Amino acid sequence: MRILGIETSCDDTGVAVYDAAKGLLAHMLSSQCDVHAQFGGVVPELASRDHICKITPLVQQTLQAAACSYADLDAVAYTAGPGLVGALLVGAAFARSLAWSIQLPAIAIHHLEAHLLAPLLEDSALVFPYLALLVSGGHTMLVVVNKAGDYRVLGETLDDAAGEAFDKTAKLLGLPYPGGPALAALAKQGRPDRYQFPCPMTDRPGLSFSFSGLKTAVLNAWQRSEQSQQVRADIACAFQQAVVKTLMIKCRRALTQTGLGRLVVAGGVGANQALRAALTALGHDAGVAVFFPRPEFCTDNGAMVAYAGYCQFKQGHGESLAIRVNARWRLGDQLS
Ligand code: KG4
Ligand code: ZN
Repeated sequence: MRILGIETSCDDTGVAVYDAAKGLLAHMLSSQCDVHAQFGGVVPELASRDHICKITPLVQQTLQAAACSYADLDAVAYTAGPGLVGALLVGAAFARSLAWSIQLPAIAIHHLEAHLLAPLLEDSALVFPYLALLVSGGHTMLVVVNKAGDYRVLGETLDDAAGEAFDKTAKLLGLPYPGGPALAALAKQGRPDRYQFPCPMTDRPGLSFSFSGLKTAVLNAWQRSEQSQQVRADIACAFQQAVVKTLMIKCRRALTQTGLGRLVVAGGVGANQALRAALTALGHDAGVAVFFPRPEFCTDNGAMVAYAGYCQFKQGHGESLAIRVNARWRLGDQLS
C-alpha cells in the first residue's frame, strides 16, 4: 500500500510517498522562506501562489525519487486544515483532482494529527498510547494519543503558541525571518544568568499555557537595555530558557497526571535543541522514554501527511468528491 502525502497548510510545500511495507520512500520540501523574508512574516496570498507554482513539479520529483508512478499509488492524502485557507485550497484542489483523475481515494488530513503521528514514521520503539507535546507556530498543546484517530487534549495555549512567541520575540529583537530558528541560534551566545523571565502559568495547577506576557517582559527588558548585540543574545537566551522550562514543567505535570511512560515532542519548536535537551533530562529523571522526530519531520513536511493518510486509509477512511478545507479545524472534530 502506497500513499502520496501533500502538505500546503502554510509556507512550505511538502510531498512524500509512504509505503506500508518499506516505510518512507521519498519526501521533498520546497520552502518559501525567501518569498516571505522581506515582509518579516508569511503573506498568505504569496504563499498560495507559490504553492501553485511548486506543487506539480514537486510531486513529479518526489515520485521519481520514490521510483514509482501514479499507477503504484493507492491513495492521495492532503492537509485539509487548520492553516491558511488559500494555501490549504491549493493542496486540496490538487490532491483531489489528481486522485479523481487516477481513480484513487483522497484522504483529508488534520495538520495537527499529522504532527502528532510524525514520530511513528521512523521510530519502531514508539507504541500507543503516548503523551504528545505539540509545539508549532500555531499551536501549543498537550495531547494523549491513545491511537491513530483517538486524541484527548489535556491543555493548550490561551493566547500565543510557543512558536509564535519565538517568532514575535525574534521580530521585536530585530532578528530576521524566520524568527524561531534565528532566536535559538542567537541564544547560544547569550549569558544564561543575565536576565530572568517568568515561566507563565507554572505557579498554578493545570495544563494550560500562555506566552503573550513573556513577549511583553522581553520588550520591556530590551527597551530598558543599551540594546547591544550581547544584550540581544542574553535576552534571547533567557527567553528560550523561560519557554523551555515552562514546557518542561507542564510535561512533567501531564506525565504524573496520566501515568504515561512515553513522551513525544512534535511540531516545529520540537526542532529546538534546548527543548530537546531539557526533555531528554526530564525523561531520565521521570523514567519516561522521550521520542523526537528528526528536525525535518518536526517542522511542516509531506511525510507526516503521507503517514497520517496511511493510518486513516488502513481504517477505511476516504472522502466524497467535494474539495473541502477548514482553516479552523479542531482536532477530533469531523471535517466540515
Ligand atoms: O510545525 P511548524 O513547521 O509549522 C506550524 O504548523 O506552525 O512550526 C513552525 C514554528 C515556527 O514558529 C518556527 O519559528 C518554530 O516552529 N521553530 C523553532 C525552531 N525551528 C522552528 N522554534 C524554536 N527553535 C527552533 N529551532
Ligand atoms: Zn505544522
